[in-house]
Amino acid sequence: QDLTHYNTLGLKSRAHAFLRLHDLSMLDALSDTAARYPGVVILGGGSNVVLAPHIDSLVVHMETRGAQLVDDDHDARIVEVQAGEPWHHFVATCMRQGWAGLENLALIPGTVGAAPIQNIGAYGVEQDEYFHSLVAWDIRYGRRVEMGPGDCLFGYRDSFFKRVEPGRWLIVAVRYRLPHDWRPRLDYPDLARNATIALAGAAVTPQQVFDAVCEIRRSKLPDPAELANVGSFFKNPVVDAETYRSLRDLHPGIVAYPVEDGARYKLAAGWLIERSGWKGRRLGPVGMHERQSLVLVNHGGATARDIQVLADVVRAEVATRFGVHLEQEPVELGAPAPEQA
Ligand code: EPU
Repeated sequence: QDLTHYNTLGLKSRAHAFLRLHDLSMLDALSDTAARYPGVVILGGGSNVVLAPHIDSLVVHMETRGAQLVDDDHDARIVEVQAGEPWHHFVATCMRQGWAGLENLALIPGTVGAAPIQNIGAYGVEQDEYFHSLVAWDIRYGRRVEMGPGDCLFGYRDSFFKRVEPGRWLIVAVRYRLPHDWRPRLDYPDLARNATIALAGAAVTPQQVFDAVCEIRRSKLPDPAELANVGSFFKNPVVDAETYRSLRDLHPGIVAYPVEDGARYKLAAGWLIERSGWKGRRLGPVGMHERQSLVLVNHGGATARDIQVLADVVRAEVATRFGVHLEQEPVELGAPAPEQA
């Protein structure tokens, strides 16, 4: 199976074995099937992965769809959504149904099943703030497991699922708790500055926040359908307050946000990369985006190897200039490219 159209970086990749999981009745047979391959790779929207040219594992493509209200009490609604549902489609459904809460996370590529894995976040909100629980399938032991927030170990672009053996856990469905007492989340400067939001003032609606987030994202972030990318390629590095202060003395324009009540600072990696001269610059078929230097783009025909070469160069230049280490955000799947082996 050719996976070029199953990853938003558009990398040429082939899977030895490919299974479309469109019905939960297929879960029971999954462990037996998986045992015949060297491993399992679960693929959702392919928007946070760097795929190797050849994947020997069984690739499982999640295709289950749909969202439903499973509980609605005095305080909140619980909405359950299947893992294969495209995230943005789910958020749009919530808006149509009047289920407010996730509007800051509009237009994030990928599927619902991938959302808890990297704890997706944008415009001042992370999915764990609305997360209720999830249903996972333990592929190794062929059993269904319920997981609450405490099991998932959510952090900034991090969770339990990023730390355990790859290919053991399959996320089947995710539940979100959306409180009836809705308040807009407008802490993110770009959002507070948006014309629609500013004009609406205290009367702002979830739909207006949703529209504003879509507008901001479209103005900055390349659409993977037009220019292949996986969103931010690095995490924003978090440093202690002392490191931040000495960086700020050396580089007065540095962009950073206090976290943990000012004990640490999250640096805008896009700024560091831009100041290292990489905004809009190319290396072979890949480059850093001209409007958002944190986004690595494939101009056409790249392999995982090209991506790694550019990522290493950018990382090295940022480290030399600022003494800050950038950690890669997307997950690498499959065997290393032959040149690296
Ligand atoms: N900046 C620059 N040059 C650049 C890019 C950014 O100077 O080329 C500076 C600007 O001052 C800007 C600031 O960095 O105001 C922050 O940039 P932006 O608002 O675009 O957000 P970000 O920190 O680069 C993070 C997330 C995004 C998310 C946005 C909005 C990470 C790794 N990325 O990016 O998430 O959409 O905030 O909340 O945390 C993703 O994870 O794939 C992703 C797109």
